[in-house]
Parts: sequence; C-alpha cells; structure tokens
Amino acid sequence: MLNPLELAHRFLAEVIVPGDLVVDATMGQGYDTVFLAGLKADVVAFDVQALALAMTEKRLEQAQLTAKLILDGHENVGQYIDQQIKAAIFNLGYLPKSDKQVITQAETTLDALTQLLEMLVKGGRIALMIYYGHAGGLEERDAVLAFVSGLPQREFQVMRYGGINQANQPPFLVMIEKRL
Ligand SMILES: C[S@@+](CC[C@H](N)C(=O)[O-])C[C@H]1O[C@@H](n2cnc3c(N)ncnc32)[C@H](O)[C@@H]1O
Repeated sequence: MLNPLELAHRFLAEVIVPGDLVVDATMGQGYDTVFLAGLKADVVAFDVQALALAMTEKRLEQAQLTAKLILDGHENVGQYIDQQIKAAIFNLGYLPKSDKQVITQAETTLDALTQLLEMLVKGGRIALMIYYGHAGGLEERDAVLAFVSGLPQREFQVMRYGGINQANQPPFLVMIEKRL
C-alpha cells in the first residue's frame, strides 16, 4: 500500500507533464523538489532556511536535475511567479535534523495556499502533507482543515488520506484538485 506521501507523489505525477510549472512550497531536504524535477517539470522551490537550499542543491546535483531554489517564504510566491501553475506540494512542519523552532505557520501557509489556488490551472492539483506532532502543529493542522473544508465544492475537489491504526500523530494528506 502507498503511504500518504507516496500517494501525494502519485497524484501529482498523474497530472504533471514535462515543462509544466510546479511549486515545492517547503523545500526542506529536497526530496519533493527532486521528485518533481524528475518529472521534467519546471520546479520553483521555497524555503526560509539556507540549510534547506544547500541540502536540496546537493540532492539535485546528485540526481543531475535542476530547479529554481528560492530563499524566501512561500507566502511571497506572488513576487516570483506570475503565471499559472500545474501543481504544488507542501510538507508542513520543521526541517528534520535541524532547528525545530523554524516551523511552517498557519497564517503564512494559508496565505501561500490561497495564492497558489488562484494560480492553479483547471485540472491542476495541490498536495498538503500535514504533520502535526510538534509544538504548534495542531493549530496549523486545524487552520488548514478549516480552510480547505470551506473551499467551494463546485470549484475544488478536496480529499483527505491517512492511516487509521498508527501510533502517535501520523501525518496525513490533503489533496486539492481544481475542477475542469
Ligand atoms: C517538513 S519540512 C519539508 C520537507 C521537504 N518537503 C522534503 O522533501 O524534505 C518543512 C520545511 O518548511 C520550511 N518552512 C518554514 N516556514 C516556511 C515558509 N514560510 N516558506 C517556505 N518554507 C518554510 C522549513 O524551513 C522546513 O525546511
């Protein structure tokens, strides 16, 4: 069976074709950036930590792939992209093996998500991996769930996927598709 992150990648791969503009809103260690670049998409990736850019750059080099890496918050996405996008992914929370104080925040996450939903082409998809076991995670989880629950059904299909019997606070996936 696919876990929620593998499922997110599968759902994105179903709609992305080479040359599509896509956004990794939370670069982190670069796993999603490399995955998207491997689909031959034009990837624009954001993170607020220089360490994330360094890790992602290295991972891209190893895979002989390229992406545009931006050291800035995803809430500023409008300053960097003025075209439609096919897809985006968020992995909420903190950068593993790094400063756990630097976490994604409800306000900026929803700001970025609102802008990316505007930029999304019809049939495009946004994946949000929700990690909430850390301090501050519950507030962000609840804010994101409240926001996506309120998206109009005529315009967006919103689905939630996650484990049922896992210990601790297992991450889950929220998948949004802009209707045709
Ligand atoms: C869970 S990690 C992302 C994992 C990543 N997708 C990967 O494949 O390794 C969350 C990342 O979001 C970053 N972050 C926090 N606030 C941000 C913001 N406002 N804009 C962009 N990135 C942010 C953190 O620095 C951290 O690297």
